[in-house]
Amino acid sequence: MSNPSPSQTGADREPGVAMTLDRLGHPRVHVAPDYQSLCVAVAERIAHLVQVKPDAVLGLATGSTPIGIYQELVRLHQQIGLDFSGITCFNLDEYYPMDPGDDHSYHTFMQQHLFGSINCRNWQVPDGRERSLETIAEDCRRYEEAIEKAGGIDLQILGIGSTGHIGFNEPGSAPDSKTRLVDLDESTRLNAARDFGRLEHVPHQAVTMGISTILKSREIMLIASGAGKAAIVYTALNVLVTPLVPASLLQNHPNASFWLDSAAAQALEN
Ligand code: F6R
Repeated sequence: MSNPSPSQTGADREPGVAMTLDRLGHPRVHVAPDYQSLCVAVAERIAHLVQVKPDAVLGLATGSTPIGIYQELVRLHQQIGLDFSGITCFNLDEYYPMDPGDDHSYHTFMQQHLFGSINCRNWQVPDGRERSLETIAEDCRRYEEAIEKAGGIDLQILGIGSTGHIGFNEPGSAPDSKTRLVDLDESTRLNAARDFGRLEHVPHQAVTMGISTILKSREIMLIASGAGKAAIVYTALNVLVTPLVPASLLQNHPNASFWLDSAAAQALEN
């Protein structure tokens, strides 16, 4: 794979994005000067899809990275009336065990940051309630079925974990994995400790869409912000595709792109 070099032409540049790095193959890499402009650029892409396909199916992520994107979508809804009434959303993951009404649930996160403030009523987060393994497996199968019944995911938004995880597919996750109960890596739990107050309060497991579920999406945008993500972003784009770096599997997707602020892109630009 060739080293990325900054594009000299502005022709393929996305609005709000300072630079598109030309690379052989996929994914394409877009770099915004800062977090705010990154969020505006990504929100514009989502808004465009919602306008041209009012019944679009979105796959959504939680975590700190997409918060600014959701704020911008809420602003577009409230200020220019962007209409989400026809869209369907599926979230990537939920901690297990986790009650949807818990302050730390991803269900609550989505309600607080997005769905409580826009007019989308058709949204689902994987069910994290404690129950038998058989019931969980059956519900995971139904989650897959619901995505398929909705027509498949048009646009999947992803973050990236320091382990290279996408959703909660930690290193070693099978490329053909589907929605399922998984164990969280200790480093993922450590990163989550700031949200839960103490490491001991962070669940050891989660229900996540699988790698194959994610890769079936027609378009994928992976978003990363901050210098703390620079090394794993570089690895995901440059390592030979391997399940040991789950985000590297996006190299095999025909319509995946990385959307970075300059801090997250610093290893690529060097
Ligand atoms: C969350 C998810 C995770 C996060 C990743 C990055 O739904 O699927 O893969 O996207 O852990 O999290 P932040 O954005 O908090 O750095």
